[in-house]
This record gives sequence, structure tokens and C-alpha cells, in this order.
Amino acid sequence: MRKPIVAGNWKMHKTSREAAELAAEIKRELGDMDQVECVLCPPFTSLRAVREVIAGSRLQLGAQNCHWEKQGAFTGEVSAPMLLEEGCSYVIIGHSERRQYFGETDETVARRVRGALDAGLKTIVCVGETLAEREAGTTCSVVERQVRIGLSQVRAGEWDRVVVAYEPVWAIGTGRNATAEQAQEVHAWIRKILRELGGDAAERVRIQYGGSVKPDNAHELFSQPDVDGGLIGGASLKADSFAAIVRAAL
Ligand code: PGA
Repeated sequence: MRKPIVAGNWKMHKTSREAAELAAEIKRELGDMDQVECVLCPPFTSLRAVREVIAGSRLQLGAQNCHWEKQGAFTGEVSAPMLLEEGCSYVIIGHSERRQYFGETDETVARRVRGALDAGLKTIVCVGETLAEREAGTTCSVVERQVRIGLSQVRAGEWDRVVVAYEPVWAIGTGRNATAEQAQEVHAWIRKILRELGGDAAERVRIQYGGSVKPDNAHELFSQPDVDGGLIGGASLKADSFAAIVRAAL
């Protein structure tokens, strides 16, 4: 049995003071939750504030990106060992906004995944097709390429530290979620590729769905056999809606 995992991707929202307030509300709602793994992913500047608030609870801390090198002349970047020391256990890699606005490619995703795993972090690796790709009938081939290249540097024994997030780009922040059937179809496809890459370990890899998950659609999406939780953007910025989505994964 895979333990569901729901992560809140706060994107570029919340100063550290606001982040601490939101984290405190989420802790009141979900601090003892142990049937679902809950991860809060605030901006870098709020990691420490959120860490202090969630200390002693079951909530976990994640970041939204990391560089592949441990250190160096990479202005504006943050490395995986830095995140580990700030208390992160997870890092999101290859979010479609990183791919779309910041030149992230499947190759840089693979390198960042390697850097994160080397540091001892767990990774949430994002894949997903654009609307044009879906309409062209290329969803499966696009996602297959993203998974095969993005996870090409994962070694045997590391699969338990890999979570894949399937996030159709057309569903992110649009209010238009994939149907449960559309999600399950792609999740099953991803699991098939993971079996080729990781063998039996693929059965333990959690695959999250992301893209306009809300309290009223979460249960149906999370009920699908290969949907093991969600990566939540907009609805993770309110404690009550995030908590409702987490409970929908029970
Ligand atoms: P959304 O974002 O829930 O606001 O659609 C999901 C994500 O980008 O991870």
C-alpha cells in the first residue's frame, strides 16, 4: 500500500510572517495527521519560519526548486544541501512554471534530481503536457519523455525518495482539472514506465495529480488506483481548503 502524499506548492506567495501564520493554521488542522503525508512548500525565504512553526508536528517541509551543484557561482540559485540544512525533506523539481518561464529542460530536471538525491532529499518531480500537446494526441509520448529523461539519473535503491507529480499544464491554475479518468490513464502510463526504469520499486513510487485540485474534486481524483495524492497550488494557500483536500486522500 502506498501512503498518500499531499503537498502544498505555495509558489511565490507569502512573506515569512504570512507563511508562519498559514503554517500555524495548517498545523492546527493537520498537525497529527499520519495516514497522509503532508508537505508544505513555501518560498525559500519562508522555509525557516515555517520550519519553526511545524516543528514537533507530522507536517514536512519542502522547497520549490534546487540547483544540481552543491555550491558555486550560480547567482540566484539555492543548492540541495542548503535546503537540507534548512529542514527540508522534499524538493519540487521541474514544475511546469520552471519549464515555461525559466528555461528548465528535461536534462536540467535530471541534474537537479541527482543533486537533490545526492544531498539526501526526497524529490517531487513534475511532468505534464500542454493543451496543444494533448490536443495533438501526444500526451503519452510527452510524459514518457519527461519521465524517462527527468528520472534517468535515479539509481536502484533511491526510488523510495522519488515522487512523481502529473500536472497537465492546461489544468494548472485554470480551474479546469483533468477528469479522474484522464488522470488515471496518464498515472497508469507513468507507472508502466517506472516499472521499466525501477522494477518492483515502481509499485511504491507515489504519483500525485496536480492542476486545479479543490476540496470538491479531490476525493474523486484521489480514489483512482494510481493517484496517490496531490500537488496543490491555489487551494493550498488557505488552511481550510488544504486540510479538506488532505482529508480527501484518507
Ligand atoms: P493549482 O496549481 O492547484 O493552482 O492548479 C498546481 C501546481 O501548479 O502545482
